[in-house]
Amino acid sequence: MPKLFKSMGVFNNILKDNESLFRDSVALDYDYIPKLIPYREYEQRYIANCIKPLFAKRNGKNVLVHGSPGIGKTVAIKHLFNELEEETDDIVPIYINCWQKNTSFKINLDICEQLGYKFTHNKKTDDLFDIIKDILNKKSAVFCFDEIDKVEDLSFLYMILEKIYRKTIILITNFKIWAVNLDTRLKSRLTLEDINFKKYNHTEIKGILKNRLQYAFVSNVWEDDAFNIAAKKTAEIEDIRSGLYILKESGNCAEEVSSKKITIEHVNKAIEKLSDFSIKDKTELKEDEQEILELIKENSEKKIGDLFELYKQKGGSGVYKTFQRKIEKLSKNKFISISKTQGGAEGNTTIVKYERETETKLNEY
Ligand SMILES: Nc1ncnc2c1ncn2[C@@H]1O[C@H](COP(=O)(O)OP(=O)(O)OP(=O)(O)O)[C@@H](O)[C@H]1O
Ligand SMILES: [Mg+2]
Repeated sequence: MPKLFKSMGVFNNILKDNESLFRDSVALDYDYIPKLIPYREYEQRYIANCIKPLFAKRNGKNVLVHGSPGIGKTVAIKHLFNELEEETDDIVPIYINCWQKNTSFKINLDICEQLGYKFTHNKKTDDLFDIIKDILNKKSAVFCFDEIDKVEDLSFLYMILEKIYRKTIILITNFKIWAVNLDTRLKSRLTLEDINFKKYNHTEIKGILKNRLQYAFVSNVWEDDAFNIAAKKTAEIEDIRSGLYILKESGNCAEEVSSKKITIEHVNKAIEKLSDFSIKDKTELKEDEQEILELIKENSEKKIGDLFELYKQKGGSGVYKTFQRKIEKLSKNKFISISKTQGGAEGNTTIVKYERETETKLNEY
């Protein structure tokens, strides 16, 4: 570099082509499991105590985990499961997300897969359960059914309660009222313990984000005031997932302009982008997005390609890619859900299902 430029330091703040602000951006992924889950020790211990009888070959306790979105319910349980796996082979942890696996058949199929049983083809729900029972009754099991309120039938729970001898069942939901409204027969069989995950306060949010940031970014690339704004915004939204999004997007915005530092300007840009992903009410959607949502409501569980055709017939504009992006936004905000089907006559395709228009406030009951 010519001396003049060097002395001016113009290039010192510019990121070179082969440089990155990220050390390991995976650490910002929503499903990354950090080594420690600060501020959730009490909750983890509480759940560990429900599992504890299994170590003595007795039946465990069942527990309902509830609390608002993005406050560490899923990660606390997954982290606990990792520890359990390191501790013993005699207790088998099984984690199912009921948003994705929303019927007893899909759940039993997933459990078989997790247990390493491969001959599931053409088997019915009950046949699959017989296999599960045979494997698990040689040991003990801890089941976690996450987003349990999304499940369409509960017969799998009856089966587990009746046929698996030594188990703990953990149910996670945003809506405590879901459990209040359960059938009394099921309620009395489950006898759920109950733990509420409280929202994090500002200091806790700062601590969690700082921690993740240290794994994800190269040292000293974050300006203090920029990080403080990211943490403050996260504290307002009360959802760590949004905080992780802000951190990652801030890094991306800084890299886009080859900045060596992440500044307030980059964070503000990231926050602007975030508003696309934290919509609680349909009225906050753009007009054409609302129209697409309406279309999906009228044509729930259709293939994405067919929906696009209908959308065009109704005068919708834009190419397929744009349509896909809008579908993704609606799905991220949980207005709709998308599931991929494999095989079949037409190969792989995406099915779009209508879910809701507005955030229900059931959690407050
Ligand atoms: N104490 C914590 N330490 C580190 N990361 C955390 C902590 N709490 C939450 N997170 C992170 O925040 C994100 C959201 O947490 P998680 O997925 O557990 O939320 P949740 O309570 O299950 O939300 P939802 O009800 O929407 O499923 C995850 O990426 C998780 O790793
Ligand atoms: Mg979760």
